[in-house]
Amino acid sequence: MSVNTFGRLLRFTTWGESHGPAIGAVVDGCPPGLTIDESVIQPFLDARRPGQSKFTTQRQEPDQVRILSGVFEGKTTGTPISLMIENVDQRSKDYSDVAKAYRPGHADYAYDAKYGFRDYRGGGRSSARETASRVAAGGVARLVIPDVTILAYVSEIGGDAIDMANFDPAEIANNPFFCPDAQAAKRWEKIVDDARLAGSSVGAVVECVATGVPAGWGAPLYGKLDADLAAAMMGINAVKGVEIGDGFAAARLTGEQNADPMHPGSNGPEFSANHAGGIAGGISTGQPVVVRVAFKPTSSILTPQPTINRAGEATELFTKGRHDPCVGIRGVPVVEAMMALVLADHKLLHRGQCG
Ligand SMILES: Cc1cc2nc3c(=O)[nH]c(=O)nc-3n(C[C@H](O)[C@H](O)[C@H](O)COP(=O)(O)O)c2cc1C
Repeated sequence: MSVNTFGRLLRFTTWGESHGPAIGAVVDGCPPGLTIDESVIQPFLDARRPGQSKFTTQRQEPDQVRILSGVFEGKTTGTPISLMIENVDQRSKDYSDVAKAYRPGHADYAYDAKYGFRDYRGGGRSSARETASRVAAGGVARLVIPDVTILAYVSEIGGDAIDMANFDPAEIANNPFFCPDAQAAKRWEKIVDDARLAGSSVGAVVECVATGVPAGWGAPLYGKLDADLAAAMMGINAVKGVEIGDGFAAARLTGEQNADPMHPGSNGPEFSANHAGGIAGGISTGQPVVVRVAFKPTSSILTPQPTINRAGEATELFTKGRHDPCVGIRGVPVVEAMMALVLADHKLLHRGQCG
């Protein structure tokens, strides 16, 4: 069984590999009549694009999206929307060592164990090149939820967290880390550069907040909004943890501390806290939906690591090629895209059942 499709009513399928001619997504179930062209999607791909600073991989990909179907006279037709992005900067020779031995922490061994055969060039389908397709699909999903604002940022790198007292959304676009705290961004320059120069890597936490989500999206038990968000985020390369609201910290609170007290407001109910991250019983409460995503450090590093080759013999491997010293940075637009895709799907599901 192969699984390359995500979503229920708004479904997307991604296709393509790191070093193939192109990658892309097919988005099915998009309502008709939404105004769209490439320029609506391109800014999100530009945010994820590699090679924009010394803190990300130097692979130079323009990531220009083309819409191949599902759009007529600038509007969605309700039929499958096919999106294509050409790969232009592949260097397969960088991966000759990876062809013979497995990078510890990467998907090389697991892919071989499953399929008995793998496209080792750039990691093939396991490469985060695939995430460009999701970002393109997310650009379509955003059209379905025009009243929702999605904002993601890096809140921690290499164990060094932002100070919420310094939080300024305008800062996010002002530094190469999507960091809302100018002081933390300065510190991270050294943390990420030190890792890069040492041929090492560091992990990161990305936080994503969606505002404007009305109460009522989601479903009880088997179709929980938080469960779908967790699956969406865990499906991103290098993600090893997802928290909704206070997440693991909630397990250390008392019931009183963790309550989100309610009171009547001028425009419906108001809450004086949001420990739940905007979701209760699997259904949105009207509060901001808050998700935190933990990215592991890049596994392709220049430090030699013990591993085995395809014959099962002991060997050592260090990874050549162009890699992100901190994959969480470019994970920000991907997290936003997955948030948009899940929320758009749940908006349509809610409308389908409740009108
Ligand atoms: C935006 C982004 C860029 C990435 N770039 C790299 C990279 O340059 N080198 C690398 O080894 N892994 C990179 N990864 C992570 C791998 O794709 C991932 O670790 C690998 O597929 C194994 O899957 P897993 O970590 O989810 O288990 C990146 C991940 C993301 C989200």
